[in-house]
Amino acid sequence: LGRKICFYESMGSTQKEALRLADEGAADGTVVLTNEQTNGRGRLGHTWQSYRGTNIAMSLILRPDLPIEKTPQLTLLTAVAAADTIENETGLSCGIKWPNDILFDGKKLVGILTELQAEATYVKAVIIGIGFNVNTESSAFPEPIKSVAASLRSITGKQYELASFVQSFLAKFEFLYELYLHNGFKSIRPLWEQRALNLGKQIKVRQPGGRILEGFARGINDDGVLLLEKADGTPVRVYSADIEWE
Ligand code: BTN
Repeated sequence: LGRKICFYESMGSTQKEALRLADEGAADGTVVLTNEQTNGRGRLGHTWQSYRGTNIAMSLILRPDLPIEKTPQLTLLTAVAAADTIENETGLSCGIKWPNDILFDGKKLVGILTELQAEATYVKAVIIGIGFNVNTESSAFPEPIKSVAASLRSITGKQYELASFVQSFLAKFEFLYELYLHNGFKSIRPLWEQRALNLGKQIKVRQPGGRILEGFARGINDDGVLLLEKADGTPVRVYSADIEWE
């Protein structure tokens, strides 16, 4: 992983560029990294705000031999890698809001976006985009974002070296990814569950398209899908959504 790193001083979106490179046949493990992202993309059609030189925006191109329904597992693996990296680098212990928001004190420090290029039912490439809020000053967050997002610096008051953060994340990710490829999701699932914030609680989720579901979060299944139980006992599998309230 990271044997080929495409670094750009400034660009629209590492994710968009990684999708383009993957389409052109970029090798497994290629990393796209930038110092400034001007048009970041988030999950479910949201945008992702980056602040020049103070946060990390990168996308990984992976080519695992995987049926497409298993790819949510990689999203959860990435969340574990990101939370572990933060803990190693800063000592902060973060939780994961399903599927992959990394939160400290209810505020988001990392966003993860997983996209797929597939051929029939198999994966051609998985593009994993990660944005870490590292050294951003809290005053740089505009009002609506301030209440939901934070940076590591805004919590600890310290400045972090971005390059060593990236290295540390890639090493952690690679370790977990190898474990996953050899032993399957069963080796990752307990690590994710240890950090999970919403399990065993009554939650509301907003699905793409705006539909809101309410229920008890039972857990995740082996594919990384959220298992919700409605008040009348009906089980629902949630593949993609935003958890709105805990
Ligand atoms: C989310 O929480 O909505 C996901 C945010 C993902 C942001 C990252 S930053 C690097 C990569 N490039 C993008 O345009 N988006 C992802």
